Amino acid sequence: MSQPEFKLSTELPAWKKLEATFKSKGEKFQVKEAFDKDPKRFEKLSKTFQNFDNSKILFDFSKNLIDDEILEQLVQLAKEAKVEELRDAMFNGDKINTTEDRAVYHVALRNRSKREMKVDNVDTSPEVDEVLQHMKEFSNQIRSGEWTGYTNKAITDVVNIGIGGSDLGPVMVTEALKAYGKPGLNVHFVSNIDGTHIAETVKKCDPETTLFLIASKTFTTAETCTNANSAKKWFLAKALDTKHIAKHFAALSTNAEEVSKFGIDTKNMFGFESWVGGRYSVWSAIGLSVAIYIGFDNFENFLKGAEAVDKHFVETPLEENIPVLGGLLSVWYNNFFGAQTHLVSPFDQYLHRFPAYLQQLSMESNGKSVTRANAFTNYETGTILFGEPATNAQHSFFQLVHQGTKLIPSDFILAAQSHNPIENNLHQKMLASNFFAQAEALMVGKNEDQVKKEGATGGLVPHKVFSGNRPTTSILAQKITPAALGSLIAYYEHLTFVEGAIWNINSFDQWGVELGKVLAKVIGKELENNNEKVDTHDPSTKGLINQFKDWAE
Ligand code: F6P
Repeated sequence: MSQPEFKLSTELPAWKKLEATFKSKGEKFQVKEAFDKDPKRFEKLSKTFQNFDNSKILFDFSKNLIDDEILEQLVQLAKEAKVEELRDAMFNGDKINTTEDRAVYHVALRNRSKREMKVDNVDTSPEVDEVLQHMKEFSNQIRSGEWTGYTNKAITDVVNIGIGGSDLGPVMVTEALKAYGKPGLNVHFVSNIDGTHIAETVKKCDPETTLFLIASKTFTTAETCTNANSAKKWFLAKALDTKHIAKHFAALSTNAEEVSKFGIDTKNMFGFESWVGGRYSVWSAIGLSVAIYIGFDNFENFLKGAEAVDKHFVETPLEENIPVLGGLLSVWYNNFFGAQTHLVSPFDQYLHRFPAYLQQLSMESNGKSVTRANAFTNYETGTILFGEPATNAQHSFFQLVHQGTKLIPSDFILAAQSHNPIENNLHQKMLASNFFAQAEALMVGKNEDQVKKEGATGGLVPHKVFSGNRPTTSILAQKITPAALGSLIAYYEHLTFVEGAIWNINSFDQWGVELGKVLAKVIGKELENNNEKVDTHDPSTKGLINQFKDWAE
């Protein structure tokens, strides 16, 4: 794909126009007044997404600091930044990840309508289907007990060993869809190189009934390889014979050579292609732990839910396009209001790992400062995404969201129907009341007069004032089903895509993680002998290493 004609997004006429609009009305924009002026604001600015199974998700953008004119200019920015062209190039299998010379084709993994989707002139659909078929057979065998361990016992524990995208997606999705999990089948996730992670995990497992899935796109990631070797040792300490590995280890990877070097039979390898980025890989073989846990039909619905959002993203005009609107709002707040962060709080305990998942998606994708035209940006890019499930978050950091000095655009997510409607649905109603109340409070605030009327006097008054006018997007699903979750993830993927396209950065590489990895390798060697002090590095690093050596065992 050729480089865009513009180097910096600030050169675009729409960007300049938005700067002027921000000064003339954006910074003074009062969303409460906007509701007073326009009785149709909610209807206009909330969009209902209809899934393939007819279930719905409502995205309410109306509590954001925009009006028709601002929205029009933001849409114009998307046009000038050629968001549509880049989107079409992605769906066309073009190599839009230019620094790695790769297509960005996770969307082909959820191509359940099996249309032709080519990379390098080869249709990806047959290969995707073949791997899915293998995943289906394998997951059915594990779930039915047909697949047995080396002592002929059924598998009770599946341990996924991976890190980053080879961990965060499967962990988040298995947690989010626990209600669909097979009782008696436990899934565990080991990611951290800290020995505690694998040690504590295997304490809960029996080698005779444990299946390890070694999940690594490259199969060279230091943490995963080290953890996988420790798992193999733990397994062989009981199983003794390496021939038993075949029944207890499978690999999810693109690298067949390294997989067989590790000792895993490539028959037990589930492959995918280099056009699947790590943080976009839960839809690929990396999702095997999910398929085993929730069953293949549910996994397929998860894919279809994402595919439905893909379709919406490709076919819907920009002004109605839900992920486009999400991305444009993010740019509006980041680049014009100077917001640094994006809060995502699911009002859903099953979604407790969703913010962690989104952190990699957003920050590894858009934490860049060089444009696709190889120039350093002169504007802000990647937002700092953070979050925790509510209502817990309300009792920790929401103070800052309500009354702090920073603008924190926030997304709140709720399902109308709970998987656990206990106490006559009392819990769900309380949860929902907080979901509505938080967004309302952030918008309406509380002024001095109200505070005084409530009895506060003197110096206490300003402490009890809430400025309000703090933007939120409320996302209301009917239920968190596999399909709905697939759609929610795809929404955030495409929102991230839109941000990156407007910032004119490559959202699909991750060179920023390399330097630390290289230095850790060098230091790893230096830590081999505690008696040899180091004399290299900067004084701080040297001092720390030598102190570590003194105190280490
Ligand atoms: O270090 C970052 C990263 O490359 C992520 O992009 C990726 O998800 C993770 O490491 C794991 O990589 P792999 O699946 O190749 O082990």
